[in-house]
Amino acid sequence: MIKRPEEIALMSESGKLLAAVFAHLNQLNLINMSTMQINDMVDNYIVNHLKARPASKGQYGYCYSLNASRNNVVCHGVPSSNEILQSGDIVNFDITLEKNGYMADSSKTYLVGEVSPLAKRLVQVAYEAMWKGINAVRPGARLGDVGHAIERHATRNGYSVVKEYCGHGIGREMHEEPQVLHWGRPKTGMVLREGMVFTIEPMINQGRSAVFTAQDGWSVMTQDGQLSAQFEHTVAVTRNGVKVLTLRAEEKGKCD
Ligand code: CO
Ligand code: CO
Repeated sequence: MIKRPEEIALMSESGKLLAAVFAHLNQLNLINMSTMQINDMVDNYIVNHLKARPASKGQYGYCYSLNASRNNVVCHGVPSSNEILQSGDIVNFDITLEKNGYMADSSKTYLVGEVSPLAKRLVQVAYEAMWKGINAVRPGARLGDVGHAIERHATRNGYSVVKEYCGHGIGREMHEEPQVLHWGRPKTGMVLREGMVFTIEPMINQGRSAVFTAQDGWSVMTQDGQLSAQFEHTVAVTRNGVKVLTLRAEEKGKCD
């Protein structure tokens, strides 16, 4: 579970490339684009421009280079040519990239065109909740501290945390130990140690936390039909704290 410094350096390289993918996505006008068009652009950018590999493709029988989870889809949404983004939508793109054998995993929820204040607020709180979790990471802290920080921020704002899906260790494999819950009690769970690398990726629901898997066998949706938002970063536990390996340009200098 502990990565050597040279492994973390390689994961940091993968993380920087993945941040470049999101910088590329940031430049798009998403209105009237299909989620499949975005998948194809991201696939092309990763393979041909970055000379890396979209790691979700072929994993667990999944055929695409990203997950596109829109509005009441919580996670694992499948891109489709029939799904056309409209002004007012919120949509999460979740991408895992592999370069030189090491993975980085990150996601961001985008606002499409003019989004309602209530939806914007949900997206903002989901983003803040991820950072609350990241800022709880340091050697000697425990996974329960991370989960608690996230859950407290979400519930204080009137939202709920999805319980069925969690962050995960990452390295040569997309999903490694430990599981990183986005809820929990302080001073419980695994003690964090320098060299651990894992994701923090809270899914925050506007209404109740309950979810179900749709007919397609992939898309996880809110049971009450209300919105869900998510952000994800891959982080490494350092000697003194935490390093975000997938930090995006617009986040530089940010710490909460
Ligand atoms: Co992900
Ligand atoms: Co992940």
